[in-house]
Amino acid sequence: MIDEKMKQVVLETFEKEFGKKEGVNAYFAPGRVNLIGEHTDYNGGHVFPCALTIGTYAAAAKREDRTLQFYSVNQDRFGVYKVSLDDIDNISDKAGWTNYPIGVIWAFAKRGMKLDKGFDMVINGNIPNGSGLSSSASLEVLTGFILRDIYGFEVSNQDIALIGQYSENNYNGCNCGIMDQFASAMGKEDNAIFLDTADLSFEYAPIKLDGAKIVIANTNKKHKLTDSQYNARRSMCEEALAILQKVVDIKGLGDLSIEEFEQHKNVLTDPDMQKKAKHAVYENQRTIEAVKALKAGDLNHFGELMRQSHESLRDDYDVTGIELDTLAEEAWKIPGVIGSRMTGGGFGGCTVSIVKDEAVENFKKTVGENYLKKIGYEATFYTVEIGGGPEKI
Ligand code: GLA
Repeated sequence: MIDEKMKQVVLETFEKEFGKKEGVNAYFAPGRVNLIGEHTDYNGGHVFPCALTIGTYAAAAKREDRTLQFYSVNQDRFGVYKVSLDDIDNISDKAGWTNYPIGVIWAFAKRGMKLDKGFDMVINGNIPNGSGLSSSASLEVLTGFILRDIYGFEVSNQDIALIGQYSENNYNGCNCGIMDQFASAMGKEDNAIFLDTADLSFEYAPIKLDGAKIVIANTNKKHKLTDSQYNARRSMCEEALAILQKVVDIKGLGDLSIEEFEQHKNVLTDPDMQKKAKHAVYENQRTIEAVKALKAGDLNHFGELMRQSHESLRDDYDVTGIELDTLAEEAWKIPGVIGSRMTGGGFGGCTVSIVKDEAVENFKKTVGENYLKKIGYEATFYTVEIGGGPEKI
């Protein structure tokens, strides 16, 4: 579902900023929402995200020299950012949002796919900034998709996701897992992706919500994953894994069943570390169970597991905070809410809820009012649709 207006804006802005119309193409890559399976993707566990119809749009065209030029409609105060392909190894923080596309160009080169000439690019996104719906992953996937199209590199969508993650880890300093880039690059309309991050095997699961909608509620709390405790959580899970590996033969926390975890958990003598590992193990098993429930048509059980997921992220993994807790806890009180939980990295960002059609208005109104009363500023609500992967438009 391409937003023609968004497409027109990138093409018109391209002409205005770079004075060119011929040979300019437009592209789109989606953001994502994760239905269940949080903080499992760097623990070799399962995730269950889907691509959204909102995302990042771009217009791009190849140049005849080695210059790269970037312009963002959303962040027009930065103006045009210009850099030579020969300088991208030594860029300072000053490049702002352009660190994402530049990081992808850098990561392509690491894989032997070097650009001979530069290109110009204008972007415009309709994912709310800082909402945790993966605007950065969509920009990375978009850039990879554009590089394949313009330079003819032989690279699959799955590789584009992996290169995006590599650039985020090694160029932009966020030690994220593969979920966001994978969901954006591999998205399929009306389907969620049941992905095993241990070996990247996956299957599409149709999301047929007869009489219900997916509603996202944004806390509007500003957060930035790179500054947050995200990397610290990941390190703690890695430490827990190393300790557990002394007593049980596993490659990741996702290899443990609940019984095995309960049997061995006391080797984790730091209670905080034990809680973090517990979340990773239980959340992975919950995700497997949730997909089974969905396939069996038991949406209520799926919703109950969403609630358990949030509680575990709140009590054991400690990544929610009062804003996300308020949105989820207020949602659980509303008749017609099948399930509600935080989605994404946490510490702000959004909740995702499955809400019966007839309850959506009351949900937005009541949760919205109670959030404002408690937090002091407003939450924003969006009813979203599940979209496909990146495309030339
Ligand atoms: C962020 C990361 C993902 C994943 C989630 C938590 O979105 O980018 O890789 O770890 O947090 O599930």
